[in-house]
Amino acid sequence: MSDLSFSMDDLVSLCKRRGFISPASEIYGGLNGFWDYGPLGTELKNNLRDAWWHDMVRCPPTGPDSEPLSIVGLDSSIIQNPRTWEASGHVGGFNDPMVDCRETKSRYRADHLFCLGVKGDTSGQIYAYLENDDESLASARKKLGKYVKRDLADEELDTCPLTDLSPEELAITVGPDTKTVGTLTEPRQFNLMFKTFVGAVQDEDSAAYLRPETAQGIFLNFGNVVDTMRVKVPFGIAQVGKAFRNEVTPRNFIFRSREFEQMEIEWFCHGDDAAQWFEFWCDVRKSWWESLGLTSDNVMMRKHDSDELAHYAKDGCGTFDVEYRFPFTAPGYGELEGVAHRGDYDLRRHEEFSKKKLQYFDQARNERYLPHVIEPSAGLSRGTLAILCEAYTPDPERASKVYMAFSPRLAPIKAAVFPLVNKDGMPEMAMKLHEDLRRRWPVQYDAKQSIGKRYARMDEAGCPWCFTIDSDSLTDQTVTIRHRDSLEQERIGIDAVEGWLAQRL
Ligand code: GAP
Repeated sequence: MSDLSFSMDDLVSLCKRRGFISPASEIYGGLNGFWDYGPLGTELKNNLRDAWWHDMVRCPPTGPDSEPLSIVGLDSSIIQNPRTWEASGHVGGFNDPMVDCRETKSRYRADHLFCLGVKGDTSGQIYAYLENDDESLASARKKLGKYVKRDLADEELDTCPLTDLSPEELAITVGPDTKTVGTLTEPRQFNLMFKTFVGAVQDEDSAAYLRPETAQGIFLNFGNVVDTMRVKVPFGIAQVGKAFRNEVTPRNFIFRSREFEQMEIEWFCHGDDAAQWFEFWCDVRKSWWESLGLTSDNVMMRKHDSDELAHYAKDGCGTFDVEYRFPFTAPGYGELEGVAHRGDYDLRRHEEFSKKKLQYFDQARNERYLPHVIEPSAGLSRGTLAILCEAYTPDPERASKVYMAFSPRLAPIKAAVFPLVNKDGMPEMAMKLHEDLRRRWPVQYDAKQSIGKRYARMDEAGCPWCFTIDSDSLTDQTVTIRHRDSLEQERIGIDAVEGWLAQRL
């Protein structure tokens, strides 16, 4: 299990080298904030998605009343009628404060910039740096030291968020990527939705948006699901899919990207029961991430401060984040999933804007009402990153120097089959075993290079078990199993391999 004491560069390099994740359109120099998943990354992400779908939709958890929950699936369109985003509040409220550097053309989230100056000196220069970025802080400190022409002790330094600066102070501030003073613009609001046009004419009447969250598609379909599925409140609708945000500063690999995937549940319940369901979902979602191998030391729940709440978050219960200790946030944590109490905000707004009734008639209570919503909203892309970080395990003793300790459920390759050498009938026997196993799981056959190199390749890919056919196999019909994490080896009959794997997967 990883202690997260490795650099993100090492993980990013392994992801690229082994076909997990690489920059999108890389041969053209890439595109900031967009990523492609290679063969192993696709399997890993699909496994995480399937685990969520299985555990939340097909076999949902048991509720506080010991009854299994009722959750149904949905796959709504990425582009919806633009009125959707007016009703949801995204046209008016989905903004980030943005600062530009006039010289370097770099763009920053104003709330991600901090400033360094000399304590008590209001006439000198101020140096901006990026939050949680040691290199950027060191560079600001170096530039400040050069400006005052001496090394500065920690006690002499003053820091504050850039958003606290007055216009006069901003005018004497040096941006993170420049040496010139006064190049940063005043913070201004920037809408994060990607705009596009539907049809041949490109004007404001044909403007539409790529969805910034999958949630709204669920609210738009609330009436359809109630009418077609005989569901009774409380129940949930789940959806996995792409979301798009024109993030001001995409960064930290796939942590904050401009195209990413979400796994969202909207849990519809009576307003009187919402607080209980909110607590329930916070517990369920934290435990779920831990069940996939994220260690409890690296996972925590954090309540949003009142100034962080999204426009829909209900006063009182607010939002809790499931946070993970990513290497670039350690010793702090970064958001992995938000569990929000949205009240009846969304259904009420869609009723108002569409003029269609979305009230629900509750037979048991003999009452008509707009259900309240608890929303566990997880990042599939960000979850994949957390799983990659947790799995990354440096081991200087191994040929590969590192192995990926994925839980077998998430591992992109479940097992590998090798002939020890490429002669004496071993390849034929190994190929036959491979053919049998691949019908049920992603299993790889590898006969190239030494057995040590083959193990190393599978360690980096995070394959939990390798089966090797050797000369004994030809006579006694047994194979060697090599365990990825312990490096232990054992022998079992070739006929027992499928059952052995089935038991563990
Ligand atoms: N429907 C509610 C909603 O979208 P959010 O906190 O903005 O809430 C939910 O997003 C989750 O989506 C986050 O916890 C995170 O895992 C993921 N997410 C949000 N923005 C992201 C981005 N730019 N890149 C990758 N994942 C992102």
